Formats: sequence, structure tokens, C-alpha cells
Amino acid sequence: KVDATLKVMIAGAPAAGKGTQCAKIVDKYKLVHISVGDILRDEVKNGTPAGKKAKDFMDRGVLVPDEVVVEMVKSRLAEDDVKQHGWLLDGYPRSASQAEAIEKEGIRPDVFLLINVPDELLVERVVGRRLDPETGAIYHLKYSPPPANIVSRLIQRSDDTEDKCRVRVATHNANVDAVVGYYKDVKVDIDGTQSMQDVFEAICAALDETVAKSDPLEQYC
Ligand code: AP5
Repeated sequence: KVDATLKVMIAGAPAAGKGTQCAKIVDKYKLVHISVGDILRDEVKNGTPAGKKAKDFMDRGVLVPDEVVVEMVKSRLAEDDVKQHGWLLDGYPRSASQAEAIEKEGIRPDVFLLINVPDELLVERVVGRRLDPETGAIYHLKYSPPPANIVSRLIQRSDDTEDKCRVRVATHNANVDAVVGYYKDVKVDIDGTQSMQDVFEAICAALDETVAKSDPLEQYC
């Protein structure tokens, strides 16, 4: 049986635009979005054992230990909705050991999207980011201004300060090459400095090409 579901990993530095693009991708391709950062923030908010372990690491802007993250991701990827609709994995793997853990399970993406944004643009994106706790929508005070009637309810993430952003960027830079090494054959670089819409169009082109390649009818036409 041909596995027709699309499996996508999306990677990039903090504030490269992963969450923004994931919302658009899910809307168009109906994949199940698995954001490890969002799952961890929920665990922290709910005071679960995993959340209690993760909190200090997240507050410092460093990686949460594998013992918390790896099983969380593996079990989420095994759920029925993911098997049925395909997956969009956002923020995993972030290290060689995390990549290794899913390689062992035979879990590989059809395409690995790497959104590239130079370090100097990331701090501005982080400090200007605002989130709508009611809808989950991501805004930016300058690049994606929120409607005036919801401004008072918007929140800022506790790790969205300049200092923490720099630590998060350093963590990303220290690990990205090792992670990319696992997915060289399916990696597509995306220029994340373009407008949000242009970034999305580049992503759609990559996903459409991947779908076409995996469609047996297309291959034999
Ligand atoms: P996580 O929540 O994944 O944070 P992150 O990787 O730092 O990424 P962000 O969510 O900050 O940014 P984004 O790329 O989604 O950008 P966005 O679209 O919002 O992880 C948080 C923490 O959890 C980690 O530090 C770690 O502690 C822990 N963690 C997570 N995964 C882990 C793992 N696998 N292992 C261990 N620990 C883990 O955009 C940012 C802003 O820019 C927005 O305001 C947006 O409006 C704006 N923007 C977006 N695109 C554009 C554009 N093209 N032009 C102008 N502005 C734009």
C-alpha cells in the first residue's frame, strides 16, 4: 500500500517564522501540526511532571532534556489522527540524539524545510512578537500588527526577551548542522527574510513538488 500522507519537518532559528508558516501550511494541506514548544508550554501551564521538569530549561532558553521530549514526540506521532492526515513536526529534532531516537523507529520526513534568517533579524522578531491566548494567533507589532480591539488581551512569551533570544539562537546554531546531517537528502532551504506570503509560496512549491514525486500516477505519466 502506498503511504499517501505527507510527513514534513520544519526547522529554523527562534523566531525564524516556523509557527507563522505552520498555521498557513495546516490550513492548506490539513496536516497535523505537532509543535514541541507548544506542547511543552501546555505541560508547564498545567503543572504536569513533564512541565515541572521542562520549565527551568525553557526559562533559560536551552534544550529540555531528551528524557522529557523524546517519548512525548514518539507517542504523539503514533496517534491515529497523525497516521490518517500526515504530520508537520515543528521544533523536533533539535539535536543529533533526538534525530537518532526517531531514526531508530524508522520515522523520517518526506521533506525537511529549513527556514533561514540571519541572527541579527531574530532579536527584533522575538521582542516584537505578541500572542493571542484565545486563538493562538501570532502577531508582530511591526510586521504583522494585531487588530486594535484585541491588543489588550495579547501576551508575550516569558522567553521572548533579548537576552534569552540570544541564548536560544546560540543553542540553535550549536545544533543545527548535526540535525541537518540526518536529512540532507530531503532538505529544502527557504529564505525566511522574505515577506510572510513569499515564504509561504516557497514552502508550497516545495510541498507540492514532494507530493508530485510521491504520487505513483505522476511518476509514470
Ligand atoms: P519553540 O516554541 O519551538 O521556540 P523557538 O524554536 O525558539 O521558535 P519560536 O516559537 O520562538 O519562533 P518561530 O520560528 O515559531 O517564529 P514565529 O512564527 O512565532 O521552543 C521554545 C523552547 O522549548 C526552546 O527554547 C526549548 O527550551 C524548548 N524546546 C522546544 N522544542 C524542543 C526540543 N525538541 N527539545 C528540547 N527542548 C525543546 O515568528 C516570530 C515573530 O516574527 C512573530 O512575531 C511573527 O509575526 C514574525 N514573523 C514571522 N515571519 C516573518 C516574516 N517573514 N517577516 C517578518 N516577520 C515575521
